[in-house]
Amino acid sequence: MSRYFAIVPAAGSGSRFGAEQPKQYLPLAGRPLIYHTLLALCRSSHIERVFVVLAPDDMHWRHHDWRDLGPKLETVYNGGATRADSVIAGLQAAATAAADDDWVLVHDAARPCLSQPMLDALVAGVGADGDGGLLAVPVADTLKRAAADDRVIATEPRDGLWQAQTPQMFHYTPLLTALLAARDAGHGVTDEAGAIEAAGGRPKLVRCDPTNLKVTFPADLALAELILFARRER
Ligand code: C5P
Repeated sequence: MSRYFAIVPAAGSGSRFGAEQPKQYLPLAGRPLIYHTLLALCRSSHIERVFVVLAPDDMHWRHHDWRDLGPKLETVYNGGATRADSVIAGLQAAATAAADDDWVLVHDAARPCLSQPMLDALVAGVGADGDGGLLAVPVADTLKRAAADDRVIATEPRDGLWQAQTPQMFHYTPLLTALLAARDAGHGVTDEAGAIEAAGGRPKLVRCDPTNLKVTFPADLALAELILFARRER
């Protein structure tokens, strides 16, 4: 039976956020942001091990206490220049643990509001589908294309458009092969599904909701805190 592993690329500098330290270490509900992300994965009964991929020169990780996360967590300091490079590094670190057809769930460090029902929906929704899949949300807003001066030049049809989230879940060897091929071909893929698509796959979209947000700008951090507190009060 296939097993499940998680890889959390956390080697980004978070330059769009504009804080002094990388956004994954900013305080959120009393803990570093990435603690919440890792807790969701470490708590999941599906997942056997969680590899967190840090920048080789990461100076922040060691200043926090991660013991509450338990024994599933493995830290590797081999992140790369792009998100795809960091995921490849994480997959290589997992090579001795993972078999070809084990599942890998790649999840952004910067998505701290992942819940157990979301994880369960992804695992059930993808099932045994060989092309894998990802959490995603149908686009709700009207889409405008802008010129360089921020004036509208077109309204784009939103039919059939989804926003990709994470986790994104694929078999180990097809994912590593697809990411390496995309890198060799110079495709700047921004998620794992993009690499699988470039290799001819058709990943399954598993409907999630906007609370699985990615913290990119300062306002997202306040929103993430509200979501986590609201769940605690339920
Ligand atoms: O910058 P963005 O929010 O799109 O990054 C998505 C995820 O990829 C984050 O968890 C970030 O830490 C990670 N990343 C990485 N290595 C990079 C760039 C981004 O692990 N070189």
